[in-house]
Amino acid sequence: MKLQDSLASLLTASSVLSAASASVVVVRNPTVDEVGAEALAVPLTPWKRATAEAPNNYIPTEVDCPSTRPTIRSAASLSNEELAWLPIRRNNTVTAMRNLLTRVNITGFDAGAYLDTHSSNASNLPNIGIAASGGGYRALMNGAGNIAAFDSRTANSTGAGHLGGLLQSATYLAGLSGGGWLVGSLYVNNFTSVQQIIDTTPDTSGSLWQFGNSIFEGPATGKIQILSSAQYYSNINNAVSAKANAGFNTTITDYWGRALSYQLVNATDGGPAYTFSSIADDSEFRSGSAPMPILIADGRAPGELLIPSNTTVFEFNPWEMGTFDPTTFAFAPLRYTGSNFSAGVVPDNVKCVRGFDNAGYVMGTSSTLFNQFLLQINSTNTTTPVSQALTSGITSVLKDVGQAGDDIADWVNPFYHYNNATNLNAQSRRLTLVDGGEDLQNIPLHPLIQPVRNVDVIFAIDSSADTVAPAAAGWPNGTSLVATYQRSLNVSQQNGTVFPAIPDTNTFVNLGLNNRPTFFGCDLANMTGQTPLIVYLPNSPYVYNSNVSTFDPAYNNTERNAIIQNGYDVATQGNGTRDAQWPACVGCAILSRSLNRTNTPLPAVCTQCFQRYCWDGTVNPTAPTPYNPKRVLTQINVRSGAARFGATGLALVAAVGAVVAQ
Ligand SMILES: *[C@@H]1O[C@H](CO)[C@@H](O)[C@H](O)[C@H]1NC(C)=O
Ligand SMILES: *[C@@H]1O[C@H](CO)[C@@H](O)[C@H](O)[C@H]1NC(C)=O
Ligand SMILES: *[C@@H]1O[C@H](CO)[C@@H](O)[C@H](O)[C@H]1NC(C)=O
Ligand SMILES: *[C@@H]1O[C@H](CO)[C@@H](O)[C@H](O)[C@H]1NC(C)=O
Ligand SMILES: *[C@@H]1O[C@H](CO)[C@@H](O)[C@H](O)[C@H]1NC(C)=O
Ligand SMILES: *[C@@H]1O[C@H](CO)[C@@H](O)[C@H](O)[C@H]1NC(C)=O
Ligand SMILES: *[C@@H]1O[C@H](CO)[C@@H](O)[C@H](O)[C@H]1NC(C)=O
Ligand SMILES: *[C@@H]1O[C@H](CO)[C@@H](O)[C@H](O)[C@H]1NC(C)=O
Ligand SMILES: *[C@@H]1O[C@H](CO)[C@@H](O)[C@H](O)[C@H]1NC(C)=O
Ligand SMILES: *[C@@H]1O[C@H](CO)[C@@H](O)[C@H](O)[C@H]1NC(C)=O
Ligand SMILES: *[C@@H]1O[C@H](CO)[C@@H](O)[C@H](O)[C@H]1NC(C)=O
Ligand SMILES: *[C@@H]1O[C@H](CO)[C@@H](O)[C@H](O)[C@H]1NC(C)=O
Repeated sequence: MKLQDSLASLLTASSVLSAASASVVVVRNPTVDEVGAEALAVPLTPWKRATAEAPNNYIPTEVDCPSTRPTIRSAASLSNEELAWLPIRRNNTVTAMRNLLTRVNITGFDAGAYLDTHSSNASNLPNIGIAASGGGYRALMNGAGNIAAFDSRTANSTGAGHLGGLLQSATYLAGLSGGGWLVGSLYVNNFTSVQQIIDTTPDTSGSLWQFGNSIFEGPATGKIQILSSAQYYSNINNAVSAKANAGFNTTITDYWGRALSYQLVNATDGGPAYTFSSIADDSEFRSGSAPMPILIADGRAPGELLIPSNTTVFEFNPWEMGTFDPTTFAFAPLRYTGSNFSAGVVPDNVKCVRGFDNAGYVMGTSSTLFNQFLLQINSTNTTTPVSQALTSGITSVLKDVGQAGDDIADWVNPFYHYNNATNLNAQSRRLTLVDGGEDLQNIPLHPLIQPVRNVDVIFAIDSSADTVAPAAAGWPNGTSLVATYQRSLNVSQQNGTVFPAIPDTNTFVNLGLNNRPTFFGCDLANMTGQTPLIVYLPNSPYVYNSNVSTFDPAYNNTERNAIIQNGYDVATQGNGTRDAQWPACVGCAILSRSLNRTNTPLPAVCTQCFQRYCWDGTVNPTAPTPYNPKRVLTQINVRSGAARFGATGLALVAAVGAVVAQ
């Protein structure tokens, strides 16, 4: 109850914040008349949600176990479900890959013939993963721009210089924290597209990705919000209280996940009955028309505050949650999490539970960002009254959640009494999880470098805010890749994973590896084992300075679209403006491991590409001069630029053309 009071004061403080920045944020302060009009308004017809399958909305609920009772399995292999789905998906990628690779102009290489020759055995063909990093709303939006560039459904994305179809060619799409909101949001909405989301005007349907109203205020639709902030907060509170009354431990993550859902799930009240496991039943996903989504969270031992780099990394996929790490080394059926598993089974006298894996709760678990908020708010500028109010609100939350140790996502531990010898949580009924980026591995590479997944190439979208003053703050500098590399050297934790060598972050800045795409792990001969080629795509400025603060909770749609647009240009290098050969080089990165498997010589164009994009082992660890990246193209003016976006969405991508600024 104290927690709820504190949240209320946090909400109040944040409304002050939004009001103060009214020039950027569309503030919604309903007059008495508007509130009255709202009460008289015809109630909205609830949207149909084909996959809202929790038995009792947000409340995890006991059900009869299925005749084959759910069990925990060893992580030595992939799940039967993934093994059955993979050939369907791999087959479905062939046409998209053929279209993409023939279009990108790999001179002297007949990509069509290559694909045709090998399509009878799809496992010879490239196996592509995409990973979208954390970084709050910045990561959602920059990641969305990259994904839109890869998505053939985006307008004009299959023209010269573009990369549309890469998403349709991919097997896996992983997201973490803000990147997890992006991935989760696309999938819980039937694998909708970024284009579709930004083309949908808020007046006519839903409130997806309406970030002008911060999470602290709740959604608005058109002129009159659906809910007052008070109603919104009360709905969230009721949902979480109901879960607590049903006997489940609740934490700040429950509030966070419910609030996020209002922005990310296209359903009334953020779809309280919508589960992450229901994605497995989604027609698009089942038929292999979409890659497999994976979200990440870190394990956190009770009482632990800092996450060590050797922490256990858990993944959530449509069928399961669990980890390949040598500690727990097990997977649980996601649909039945919340059940009291013991020693790998739900005992005969115990009922099963459904509805624990609420989609917003899974996204919230991957992004216990409040935690980061709470830990870092004091280092932001507190000299203005606004941030003082916010800080005091958050501090009072911290006091409560800190005392109760509640600043985590509290899962019923499916791995109780399982793998006793190595599982750190084996003797605990609780499994406490935190934001997947807290171990500094802010790009969700972990599930994609597992040898059992055989991924050939990972497009690693980095929206991290690494650089600090006196440099321009908030751009990536390779910190995340360094963390994953170092973990791969830890023999007690890497458990068979191998990762390409990665230089120090000073080298990243000195050599500009954080300013344009860079490939790592090009030369298999240098590797100690099987590892994907990494195509590193660091956020950098093309048409907008998208290094916005992780702690900025509100963006109007014009700024949102500008950041998405910039992300599109990050992936395409401004549609080839920086390098006309870039699409061919992407094709080479995709093909590299497959060519090696089929003993096919590397086309000459690819040799040139690899000379240009592969990190060649050079290091320069001296302290760099401050990183102040120059915009590549003409800046979008978010004040006057609104007319260029709107319903036509990413049309601007093509319009930007080859104009190079400065
Ligand atoms: C394809 O690439 C070659 C260089 O490898 C270039 O000369 C040619 O103009 C490109 N063709 C198209 C259609 O872009
Ligand atoms: C995949 O395609 C191959 C070749 O066309 C075919 O033999 C195989 O049955 C397909 N597999 C699935 C699961 O569709
Ligand atoms: C999901 O999307 C596909 C492709 O756009 C469409 O055919 C299908 O009807 C959609 N399903 C639902 C339940 O909306
Ligand atoms: C959200 O749902 C509404 C109503 O079903 C639909 O019209 C709209 O297209 C959906 N938005 C997206 C982005 O899928
Ligand atoms: C709630 O947490 C307590 C420890 O604080 C634990 O003993 C209990 O088993 C947990 N309950 C559930 C349902 O997870
Ligand atoms: C992580 O490393 C610390 C310090 O070396 C060690 O005490 C701990 O047991 C390790 N944890 C795991 C999960 O390996
Ligand atoms: C990974 O860890 C598990 C459990 O500790 C172990 O059985 C397995 O042999 C390890 N795999 C590799 C490749 O080291
Ligand atoms: C903090 O904000 C105050 C008032 O807006 C401003 O004068 C000051 O320069 C800021 N300090 C920093 C370190 O940004
Ligand atoms: C901020 O600093 C104050 C004063 O040191 C401290 O009392 C408070 O707990 C801190 N708040 C947070 C959120 O860290
Ligand atoms: C795991 O530990 C629990 C508690 O000590 C014990 O009851 C159980 O039998 C152990 N499981 C195995 C497989 O050893
Ligand atoms: C890189 O980022 C880290 C934070 O992640 C920061 O501590 C470090 O100073 C940065 N280094 C450079 C050269 O930008
Ligand atoms: C696609 O590109 C063409 C040619 O540049 C342009 O005329 C058209 O407006 C674009 N369409 C969209 C929807 O972006």
